[in-house]
Amino acid sequence: MTEHELKRPFNPDTLREIADSYGTPTYCYSEQIIRDRISLLRSHLSGTPVHLSYAAKANVALPILRLMLDEGLGVDAVSPAELELAIRVGFAPDQILYSANNMTDQEMNLAASKGVVMNVGELSRLKRFGQDFPCSRVCVRLNPQIGAGHHKHVITAGRDSKFGIPVEQTDEIKRIVSEYDLQLIGLHQHIGSGILDTDVVWAAIAVMLDVAIQFDSLQFINLGGGLGVPYGPNEHALDLSLWREKIVRPLEEYRGRHPSTDLTFVFEPGRFLVAEAGVLLVRVNTIKETEHHLFAGVDSGMGHLSRPAIYGAYHAVYNLSHPDGELNTYDIVGNICESADFFARERAIQEIRVGDLLAILDVGAYGMSMASLYNMRPLPAQLWLPAEGTEIRLVTARESATELIDRLYPGLD
Ligand SMILES: Cc1ncc(COP(=O)(O)O)c(C=O)c1O
Repeated sequence: MTEHELKRPFNPDTLREIADSYGTPTYCYSEQIIRDRISLLRSHLSGTPVHLSYAAKANVALPILRLMLDEGLGVDAVSPAELELAIRVGFAPDQILYSANNMTDQEMNLAASKGVVMNVGELSRLKRFGQDFPCSRVCVRLNPQIGAGHHKHVITAGRDSKFGIPVEQTDEIKRIVSEYDLQLIGLHQHIGSGILDTDVVWAAIAVMLDVAIQFDSLQFINLGGGLGVPYGPNEHALDLSLWREKIVRPLEEYRGRHPSTDLTFVFEPGRFLVAEAGVLLVRVNTIKETEHHLFAGVDSGMGHLSRPAIYGAYHAVYNLSHPDGELNTYDIVGNICESADFFARERAIQEIRVGDLLAILDVGAYGMSMASLYNMRPLPAQLWLPAEGTEIRLVTARESATELIDRLYPGLD
């Protein structure tokens, strides 16, 4: 992927029309791309006892959740609102795993009242669950002590991780399970996000499988998400054939050795399914040249897409107004009062003028779902581009500043 390509089926004319009709900043999501990603992944799982779930945290846009339901995926929910949303969208309780970390008693009671299995990542919570819900079904999240990810902030296993029960505490898990007569139906791990290396994933899975063999009550082993996508021109796509060979096939073989008779495996990706299906449309309002930089300032910022600020993440930027313009080197910066507020640094982009429309690419995952109201900038609008037909649908509207204040402080004069 270079700076100058727009992934099909995103069409420059359609995106320009969207910006004219709906304004900017606006997130657009392509149904076709998400469906293609699901079938691509499924084609590498065919013939194996592996199910897919969707990590809703990547993007909770309603049409995306409905699409996942329609495609037969389950859901990984991590907060009461994600849980309730999944249920209201129509997911059955047994399609949902509740994986909140450091959950409260109220959350635990909510998930239990909905009949949703909880994924517990702390011994203290497992004990509490046992006390309040003895003899119930439960899943335990392990920390296999091997983590990976595109940035240290997204590594979710290993020595310094807050996630999961360390594998060395397996005997404690057994003790609590036995004390409260719990049915340990699932083991789970998620070692990080944006992983393109299959060897490290398998190393962590191998640790998990050694523990799992000790539990004959298991119905599923959930191996988390983490499948990476290439954002920058120097990154390669995940080699799915290798992934099938090194990870999926050995799982099949393992299944034959496990004492449980109907063991299945689950992967719960977020990024892999939706990242490439999103673009963020922003409008340029400032061009500023200094001795060392050429800044293009836009009507959005790190509150709307925080990945560059938090992770130094790369997102390609495409000039929809002058796609054939000469390349120039720009810093694309936002309207938030922070120096971390940038979308791209020193990037070769088609010549940008004030008023140009830019598309920031591959923002379907952890874009809008991580957005904030910092500086009291209202959130972008979100649009759904259906696979069939041309009717674009508004998912959520952009609030005005006044609407935002009225929502936060109803009754204020
Ligand atoms: C428990 C769990 N499962 C799945 C995911 C999805 O990860 P990814 O989007 O990298 O596939 C996450 C992301 O943080 C997670 O915490």
